[in-house]
Amino acid sequence: MDTEIRTASAPPQPVPQDGAGPFATYEARVASGKLDRDPEQEKAARRLDRLWRELRDYHPMVMQRQATARHGLFGGLRARLGLGGRGAQAAPSRPRGVYMVGQVGRGKTMLMDLFFDLAPVEHKRRVHFHRFMQDVHQRIHDMKVADPALSDPIPPLARQIAQEAWLLCFDEFQVNDIADAMILGRLFDFLFADGVVVVATSNTKPEDLFQDRPGADAFKPFIDIIMREVDTVILDSPRDYRRGCVRGMRTWIVPADAAAKAELDTIFTHLAAGAPVQAVDLDIMGRTLRVERAAGPVARFTFAELCGRFLGAGDYLALATRFASLVIDDVPRMGPDNFDEARRFIVLIDALYEQNVKLFASAGDQPDSLYERGQGATAFERTASRLEEMQSASYAQLPHLSA
Ligand SMILES: Nc1ncnc2c1ncn2[C@@H]1O[C@H](COP(=O)(O)OP(=O)(O)O)[C@@H](O)[C@H]1O
Ligand SMILES: [Mg+2]
Repeated sequence: MDTEIRTASAPPQPVPQDGAGPFATYEARVASGKLDRDPEQEKAARRLDRLWRELRDYHPMVMQRQATARHGLFGGLRARLGLGGRGAQAAPSRPRGVYMVGQVGRGKTMLMDLFFDLAPVEHKRRVHFHRFMQDVHQRIHDMKVADPALSDPIPPLARQIAQEAWLLCFDEFQVNDIADAMILGRLFDFLFADGVVVVATSNTKPEDLFQDRPGADAFKPFIDIIMREVDTVILDSPRDYRRGCVRGMRTWIVPADAAAKAELDTIFTHLAAGAPVQAVDLDIMGRTLRVERAAGPVARFTFAELCGRFLGAGDYLALATRFASLVIDDVPRMGPDNFDEARRFIVLIDALYEQNVKLFASAGDQPDSLYERGQGATAFERTASRLEEMQSASYAQLPHLSA
């Protein structure tokens, strides 16, 4: 699942009102053997359960404003006087969101998805954080094109986002660059003012987001906002539930020598299934990303082409959406001097993984040993774990998400 928005304009979705909450549902899955018992997960499920109960009685500001606008002055007056109706409360206290932190494979995403499905909220959205930021940049771009005189797109943008969905569930919350950092603080300030509730998973505690980077100081107020609005829940279990997958076909070829190249040639030809090899231009917000070697549903790059130049999350998402399979030659072992390449590779693999893109690569070493030392080496552990999972038979069967 990548992006899911459920709004009033979408086909009506059942909004669970009663029945089992996240904790009872989690316990039932443990009892039936679908999940292993994990006290850390139970702790998180309890916290999500509390939020689930709080949400049943919560009507955010943004929905009240909409109701007021719909019902005109009289309705607005009734609401302000507290005369009945759903929009009656003046300033409802906003439930604190939940921010789940832990290493890879601890079940954060599983728990968030379980919560999201049960959340008694009509206007809810579950999205990978890269995708959300991409959407934010796109909308800012569109707003500026539509109204060149618009000096500050953030307030209307925040209102738009809040009106579409006021429960926002972000998978893999992170802050990639200073451009995102600058937008996020103000955007979230407005979102929270409209009553939005946030649930997130992350590998990084809020207080550590975007630290040790140029511009980190400017980002501090955002960290304060996040910490004011959400409770951090740490999932600290010793187990990585992703390890131990059954190996599928050979997808990660070490070393990256002539034999590996020949093997990738064969794979590329096989995946192309007769489609001609040609250059393809992808449009990314008015920019063009040229893919030199594309053939039907597969594209081929060297590592240097993909991660050795200024490509970002937007480019990688476009690739991951357009191509069902990617062949990458020559992924090197990296060290402290290759921070930029390693960072881009992390973002690339996130994008591929989220869209279930099948990856075939030749590399200097196994995923675990690719980037052991250097800035962001800890974040790379998730990438290594994902690369492992992307080699599993079950991953190979997942359908490519092309939208
Ligand atoms: N308690 C559990 N028992 C069995 N499988 C689990 C359990 N918790 C998580 N998993 C599975 O392990 C994998 C990794 O979980 P995930 O939620 O993606 O981890 P994270 O988001 O923390 O990296 C998923 O396939 C998930 O369904
Ligand atoms: Mg996850």
